[in-house]
Amino acid sequence: MLSRSTLLSLLLLSLFLLFLCYAPSLPSPPLSKQTKHFTGDLRDITFSWNTLPFAFSNPPPLSLKIAVFSRKWPSVSSPGGMERHALTLHSALAARGHRVHVFTSPPPPDSTSLSTQSETGPHLHFLDGPPGQWRCDEAWTLYETESENDPFDVIHSESVAVFHRWARDVPNLVVSWHGISLEALHSGIYQDLTRGPGEKMAPAFNKSLAQSIYKVLDEIRFFRNYAHHVAISDSTGEMLRDVYQLPNRRVHVILNGVDQEQFGPDYELGRTFRDDIGLPKSAELVIGVSGRLVKDKGHPLLFEAFSKLALRHPNVFLIVAGSGPWAQRYADLGRNAKVLGAVPPTRLKAFYNSLDVFVDPTLRPQGLDLTLMEAMQCGKPVLATRFPSIKGSIVVDDEFGFMFSPNADSLLEQLEVVVAEGVTRLAERGRGCCEYAKRMFTAQKMALAYERLFLCVKNETYCGYPLRFD
Ligand SMILES: *[C@@H]1O[C@H](CO)[C@@H](O)[C@H](O)[C@H]1NC(C)=O
Ligand SMILES: *[C@@H]1O[C@H](CO)[C@@H](O)[C@H](O)[C@H]1NC(C)=O
Repeated sequence: MLSRSTLLSLLLLSLFLLFLCYAPSLPSPPLSKQTKHFTGDLRDITFSWNTLPFAFSNPPPLSLKIAVFSRKWPSVSSPGGMERHALTLHSALAARGHRVHVFTSPPPPDSTSLSTQSETGPHLHFLDGPPGQWRCDEAWTLYETESENDPFDVIHSESVAVFHRWARDVPNLVVSWHGISLEALHSGIYQDLTRGPGEKMAPAFNKSLAQSIYKVLDEIRFFRNYAHHVAISDSTGEMLRDVYQLPNRRVHVILNGVDQEQFGPDYELGRTFRDDIGLPKSAELVIGVSGRLVKDKGHPLLFEAFSKLALRHPNVFLIVAGSGPWAQRYADLGRNAKVLGAVPPTRLKAFYNSLDVFVDPTLRPQGLDLTLMEAMQCGKPVLATRFPSIKGSIVVDDEFGFMFSPNADSLLEQLEVVVAEGVTRLAERGRGCCEYAKRMFTAQKMALAYERLFLCVKNETYCGYPLRFD
């Protein structure tokens, strides 16, 4: 049962979210999706733990000793999705008073501040040897030394950092899958379908596509060695249960989160950014894309679709944030495309706020692109590939944006819908996105969900929900 104080804090939270997303004083429509009311054992749920409220203001009932195995620990220059997740999550857990020990590869020689020990952050244990080289057995030895006199409560592996032969019979091991081979196989299929009629398949691609079938078979056989699995999207959770045949109670869906302090709606900031990059005042609609500008992120599709769109609608603009082989082609489009190169993290909020809609044409359904969550936190609707991961965890309501099949015609068709709809309606959609993102995709929500899972692994009492401190 929900206690009176829980209800009160829920109410306050909702008001706070409304305030964040509706700051420019517009009439507030009702919350489109109410928080699920769940009572029971958290191991039985198949929806994401992010859906549930966990109270941040209450300290955890006990301080856990947590071992983290991560092949990489981020330096400022390597903002990969998995590393960012590891850093955000484990810094937040350390800040909540848990004793976090990270076992990771030797740092690169030019390693920056993130790779150094801090008073309050996780305790880092680097392997010896050549930079970036991961040796699981050596990491395991370091772990055993560290646990000799004071055992760990829980072990967390970022993907296969703990190899399955070590994972067998470790009851307090939790692994987070940042992409599984079944998704990689889907990705290969989508990528090949974009190949033109006269275009040859690259031999290396042909080989990796064929091998991915065997990787799936392999994974289905060895995944069961891990005691607990975290799926980072609802659809991955479904695949782990329905295709990988893992027991329901060992599969937990926890979506990644992005720093809630760093992203949010700010109209003025967005307008200034438009001026700074020289966007004409006459711009009717501004579309943004970010990330690595490579083929498997879908840039051939966006390039083709936007080239056609711009011919029909000369006042529609595309802002491209990121670097990679496709940067030059976008630049060749002339005045309708603003190619910015890599945008530093401190400017991302301004970038998102300058847009009317954010597009993610990715052909890789592995994991979930954090950029979609960041754009939504800034109050922007999204246009994204119709993948089970995105459909199941991000664009869960038609109100949040538009989806297209991974081909240029389908993308162009949806872009036309966006143009026809216009910026006023898009801004309205954006408010719904912001509200949803602030509830589901914050780093704080992710950290609290993992904390609860780790407590539940330590002591079954904590698998119940809600508890006195929720
Ligand atoms: C992929 O490789 C297989 C086996 O080598 C070959 O039979 C097939 O023709 C190749 N497919 C394409 C589209 O190149
Ligand atoms: C689990 O936690 C509960 C509540 O704090 C406690 O009463 C119980 O003794 C704990 N069980 C174990 C095995 O530590």
